[in-house]
Amino acid sequence: MTLILGLESSCDETAAALVTGDRRILAHKLAGQEAAHAPYGGVVPEIAARAHVEILGPLVTAALDEAGVALSDVDAIAATAGPGLIGGVMVGLVTGKALALASGKPLVAVNHLEGHALSPRLADDALEFPYLLLLVSGGHCQLLLVEGVGRYRRLATTIDDAAGEAFDKTAKLLGLGYPGGPKVEAAAAAGDAGAVPLPRPLLGSPEPHFSFAGLKSAVLRARDAGVYRAEDIAAGFQKAVVDCLQDRTRRAIRHTEGATALVVAGGVAANGAVRAMLEGLAQEAGLRFVAPPAWLCTDNAAMIGWAGAERLAAGLTDPLDTPARARWPLDPDAEKVRGAGVKA
Ligand code: KG4
Ligand code: ZN
Repeated sequence: MTLILGLESSCDETAAALVTGDRRILAHKLAGQEAAHAPYGGVVPEIAARAHVEILGPLVTAALDEAGVALSDVDAIAATAGPGLIGGVMVGLVTGKALALASGKPLVAVNHLEGHALSPRLADDALEFPYLLLLVSGGHCQLLLVEGVGRYRRLATTIDDAAGEAFDKTAKLLGLGYPGGPKVEAAAAAGDAGAVPLPRPLLGSPEPHFSFAGLKSAVLRARDAGVYRAEDIAAGFQKAVVDCLQDRTRRAIRHTEGATALVVAGGVAANGAVRAMLEGLAQEAGLRFVAPPAWLCTDNAAMIGWAGAERLAAGLTDPLDTPARARWPLDPDAEKVRGAGVKA
């Protein structure tokens, strides 16, 4: 059975994992950098890159030890090659190249988004292509038809902020701390979602896309009004996000044929209210619902190792001159939308 070493360093998690082609996770090691970034209320790219430099090597050693294997037992090295904070991506990719060079094993340069997109297949061995994927993370909010390894059709994306970004900014505005998603979710549990009137951008719109910037501005105004509890704003915000995700996903289900399942991945998929809503939506549409466990939704190296296993099985490996990419769309044919660097 193939054995893959996966490396992840595209944002503020440094991670190494050993994953087999038959879905066994022999080791997964992860070091978050919350403490280093918390004073700034968000990820500082250079601090992140410097931390990856220090942490990644020892994590690889620890992962090999935990799995009880040597580098020579590995069939390929899979490293995130983008998209993400370029300094961090370079650290992981160069580490992957060095290990590939030293071991004589192939390099698999993994698109971080493909790691998220295929992670549900690591969690669920019955999940077949094609499936409808809601990919919701700190940097992305997309609906994709996953047709196969390396074959993604983007059905919708955000015209401004990603959903996770909106969670993070809301947490910052409400003084809940960083990282924002889990803090907002915890605060929302103690709040009344109906107490604060907040907008649902693009709800019911015939166009397929998402938008969260207006919601963020409304959170700012609600906070500045000085009459609402932070818990109530958090609950109202989370409900608004859930309503938007539901409306847009429901629209995509109506416009998509042949999907075997409704699948969610990315950091925001760790949110209980988001998962519950999607489960209901899948039931309503007669689709199977697949969501990886929360730890596999947020950034990790097991998903990169698994994407590496899927790509290796498809005969896809990469040369040592593969570039690191800050931007790397999963569907290169998707049209650009307003807000994505395009003036409308
Ligand atoms: O996939 P991920 O770990 O990194 C990216 O590739 O962006 O996603 C991180 C995002 C952050 O914006 C974080 O606030 C959000 O996922 N997140 C959550 C929760 N846990 C993480 N958002 C809402 N509820 C959560 N429980
Ligand atoms: Zn991610």
